[in-house]
Amino acid sequence: MSFSPSRRRFLKGTSLIVGGAALALGGGSLVASGALTPNDAPTQSGERLTPPPTLSVRREAAFVRAALFTAASPVRLAGHAVSTLTYGGSVPGPTLRLHEGDHVRLHFRNRTAEHTSLHLHGLPLSPEADAPFGHQMPGEARDIEFDVPAGAAGTYWYHPHAHGDVARQLFAGLAGAVVVAGPLDDEPGLRDADDRLIILKDFSLSGGQVNAHAPLDGQGKHGSMTLVNGQHRPVLHATSGTLRLRLLNASTARPYRLALQDHELHLIATDGGLIEKPVALTELLLAPGERAEVLVRLRGAGRFELQRLPYNNGAVDQGSADSLLTVHAPAGLRPVRLPHVLASVERLDPATAVATRRLVFDATFPLRFHINGQFFDPARTDFTGRRGTLELWELENAHAFDHPFHLHSFGVQVLERGGLPEPFRAWRDVVNLRGGERVKIAVPLQRFTGRTVFHCHVAEHEDRGMMGVLEVRD
Ligand code: C2O
Ligand code: CU
Ligand code: CU
Repeated sequence: MSFSPSRRRFLKGTSLIVGGAALALGGGSLVASGALTPNDAPTQSGERLTPPPTLSVRREAAFVRAALFTAASPVRLAGHAVSTLTYGGSVPGPTLRLHEGDHVRLHFRNRTAEHTSLHLHGLPLSPEADAPFGHQMPGEARDIEFDVPAGAAGTYWYHPHAHGDVARQLFAGLAGAVVVAGPLDDEPGLRDADDRLIILKDFSLSGGQVNAHAPLDGQGKHGSMTLVNGQHRPVLHATSGTLRLRLLNASTARPYRLALQDHELHLIATDGGLIEKPVALTELLLAPGERAEVLVRLRGAGRFELQRLPYNNGAVDQGSADSLLTVHAPAGLRPVRLPHVLASVERLDPATAVATRRLVFDATFPLRFHINGQFFDPARTDFTGRRGTLELWELENAHAFDHPFHLHSFGVQVLERGGLPEPFRAWRDVVNLRGGERVKIAVPLQRFTGRTVFHCHVAEHEDRGMMGVLEVRD
């Protein structure tokens, strides 16, 4: 697909709101209320894009210590004063910046009045360190210790994981980025790019608060304003002729089909870090929880919009496009040369797999979601695998909504989608399943033993049962 004049014309009539979008529920179809409170419109747009604060860390050689807390705090979102749940007092939370080879001890404290937790999404933590079944009560703390292995450079994130409350707490603003640097970041093609975090998260506000979920939002709440790093339509003033955008979908449910006006996106990293060589795209879909890194070679001076294109995930039809951010390119910038070679991504041989599993994602009316007909039960183990073996998982979406699959502790590679081989090798931890789609993935159970979870990353679906348990043993 390319940018046609008709599409550009179409994009002019952008709309801020999902109001009026058709919401499908079960067999019927409803229309979302278009009524907005005055609080629901941004009061500030066009500010300079600011990155989230950086979490301060104490470094002694490769030993890294940091502390992060959750608390209800006052923040500004799109110009509104809002009191909401935060990590470290800001929305998004402070960015945890690490390096391959780091040994990390992260002290987490819950200073809110409710139970919550901290999950480091996508980093290869053991099930024990990740502790996906646990949470901290008000005032409680826990230390999370882990190593950042070689080859892990990439963009990850953190968010709460207290089952049943994930969607509400994440929607309220509990999310932040983790950026892992590695030796390839020092190569000229990456080093000289203007490196930016772009955290996409939608909000709805009223009365100085983030709106709670209404009953229908159980299918996946879409906020009325889509913000970038908590800002409405900010402006990115480019400082290099090549941008490196680290895109993170921190929304509970909203997918983003993204394009940059008049520019190609050169994909360099997926969830699991750098891929083997840049892949040129005109658009890319970022499912909830998913990350991608792209290089953009700016085509001279001008203003270019990062757009969210129309997309229907079967639950909500985002029928009109929206502008998320404007890139402002001054005259005189020179793009840097694209790297030809990035990382090497291990080739997994499906012939060596010791198990083939089938996971069917579906729903029951009203608004309960399951895998293989079963709702999440932390006491039940759904699959047992052996450490050091390779498994093939056939993911089948028997439902009409998109369900982005996610597995903790173990990276996966997509082998086939809809019977077609995946065009390039990449490590991932989120794999979107479109309505009716079948996707085959390779799951190497490397390094860790223990019990962990896989689930749909639409947080509302996960809270409503769409999660299972994997145990890996020796
Ligand atoms: Cu992003 Cu189980 O989580
Ligand atoms: Cu995760
Ligand atoms: Cu789902």
